[in-house]
Amino acid sequence: MTAVIAIDGPSASGKGTVAARVAAALGMDYLDSGALYRLTALAAQQQNLAWDDEAAVAGVAAALDVVFADSQILLKGVDVSAAIRQEIIGMGASQVAKHPQVRTALLARQQAFAGERGLVADGRDMGSVVFPDAALKIFLTATAEERARRRALQLNIDLASEQYQAIVNDIKQRDFNDINRSVAPLQQLPDAYLLDTTELSIENAVKKVLEWYQQV
Ligand code: CDP
Ligand code: CDP
Repeated sequence: MTAVIAIDGPSASGKGTVAARVAAALGMDYLDSGALYRLTALAAQQQNLAWDDEAAVAGVAAALDVVFADSQILLKGVDVSAAIRQEIIGMGASQVAKHPQVRTALLARQQAFAGERGLVADGRDMGSVVFPDAALKIFLTATAEERARRRALQLNIDLASEQYQAIVNDIKQRDFNDINRSVAPLQQLPDAYLLDTTELSIENAVKKVLEWYQQV
């Protein structure tokens, strides 16, 4: 069976960065499951659909025409890798992600990423729903303040600006949505290793994951 490393955790905790580096170190494939929810939110917006219209958005999710190229994500052949990173699309992603029909529509597509090379997958429900038999499960987190600081640095936003305050609020709102929804909520599973990166560098976080992987 394919080896899967499942990395779940809240927004901007470092999941994507750590997961991609672990995948590269182990020669495994990498799945950014959040990108699929972001793509669904963006595609729905492009079709003028409301994010709370569950049936319509699930139809969009099932029909996503997406290609993950090296550094690009193509939606209907157009590079949307920057467009899906906007905070408003992150918020849209967390709204469409509440719908059970949307999650079901994206399930098989996510599982299909697990091929012969093995997979490192990051998201909110990798260890609980998508890959419950993962060889290693990690809950990656950091304080909300530190995560907002990282997101602001990533987006070149001044830490003294109103825009920064908006990011702090957005991160807290998204945490609340993801933890409190009834389907596939963000949670630390009993069989997951806790990795708090508030005061941990990317390099040391990657090292820790590789160490745990050697142990299992
Ligand atoms: O990059 P960031 O951590 O901010 O978000 P993301 O991983 O791109 O995910 C965007 C949104 O999609 C999250 O706030 C979740 O609501 C949702 N999501 C989910 O429900 N399940 C996943 N496996 C991944 C993302
Ligand atoms: O995927 P997720 O939203 O959880 O986070 P990310 O996009 O991988 O990381 C958010 C930002 O935090 C990136 O700019 C990382 O370089 C940075 N980061 C950090 O400074 N220290 C860590 N230990 C992990 C990530």
